[in-house]
Amino acid sequence: MKALVLAGGSGTRLRPFSYSMPKQLIPIANTPVLVHVLQGVRDLGVTEVGVIVGNRGPEIEAVIGDGSRFGLRITHIPQDAPRGLAHTVSVARDFLGDDDFVMYLGDNMLPDGVARIAEEFTTHRPAAQVVVHRVADPRSFGVVELGPEGEVLRLVEKPAEPRSDMALIGVYFFTPAIHEAVEAIEPSARGELEITDAIQWLVTSGAYVRASRYEGYWKDTGKVEDVLECNSRLLDGLPRRIEGQVDTGSVLVGQVVVEAGARVLRSRVQGPAIIGSGTVVRDSHVGPYTSIGRDCLVSDSRLEGSIAMDEATVTGVHGLRDSLIGRAASVGTTGRGTDHHCLVVGDHTRVEVAA
Ligand code: TTP
Repeated sequence: MKALVLAGGSGTRLRPFSYSMPKQLIPIANTPVLVHVLQGVRDLGVTEVGVIVGNRGPEIEAVIGDGSRFGLRITHIPQDAPRGLAHTVSVARDFLGDDDFVMYLGDNMLPDGVARIAEEFTTHRPAAQVVVHRVADPRSFGVVELGPEGEVLRLVEKPAEPRSDMALIGVYFFTPAIHEAVEAIEPSARGELEITDAIQWLVTSGAYVRASRYEGYWKDTGKVEDVLECNSRLLDGLPRRIEGQVDTGSVLVGQVVVEAGARVLRSRVQGPAIIGSGTVVRDSHVGPYTSIGRDCLVSDSRLEGSIAMDEATVTGVHGLRDSLIGRAASVGTTGRGTDHHCLVVGDHTRVEVAA
């Protein structure tokens, strides 16, 4: 079996970050989402991986390279524009050949793994096997109607009145039967070749399509709130590891990671939290549920439930919470005695100040 990992797309929901970086490189517990995804693929025993990239391909390639670091062989496959999930299958046609493959969205986190589901696919070998997850409000998802044996009877994209609470999530298993389906479908109303239409085409043409339920933790990291929630969830599982320098005036409580080369001075770090290499935290309170990337400076500040990406600076700010701070961004104060805010705010940025 091969894998097709999708790391193109436009990432409009993750603006402004997606203006300057591919959203698949957003760090979760200081590791890019895409690297978590590739580790999930490797856990299936798959080594041949095609990665679909859009106009930010070089940045993705700079991070994951040829995959040897993860024990994978990665082929980078350019897609000229985000023309839909089914379009990526046709773009990857030569790479996929006549092999079965798992298609994995490069911004979806399934840290509990899909090895059992991959085994089900190999055992039953349906034309396609989708992965479903029970969700509270299925109206914003592709929803699957299932028969008694887990066979897919119908797929409906974002139904106004869902007939099931089983939503499609970001992993699919396919036999080469999918290629005929992808050739047969037309672009949807939003102008994309939809993978749900291709799978529905298989169902309609009488092919066996089944669904497996994923019971573990799942998060589509397409929005800021979801990135932060997922970060908290992953930090929860990190064992304590102190490799950097922590002075005697500092206190580390619970699951804290201080990477080699980081320095914590006169500060309190409340786990779960991670401090990246080269970062200095001084005279501050960090955590819980906070990731600080590499080469950051956190000084005289209080920060919780947040992510600061590499080279970010936070100085003199108390009570920063649930915040996502981009690479080399700087958050500070206007100085003592002033009563105004001073903002340099780029396109589609969101700023919330205390009322
Ligand atoms: P989405 O998150 O559904 O689409 P998007 O990236 O355009 O995001 P937004 O809705 O915020 O504008 O895509 C799921 C994954 O598939 C994501 O990793 C991007 C990738 N993708 C491609 O590689 N090619 C495509 O044509 C599309 C639509 C998505």
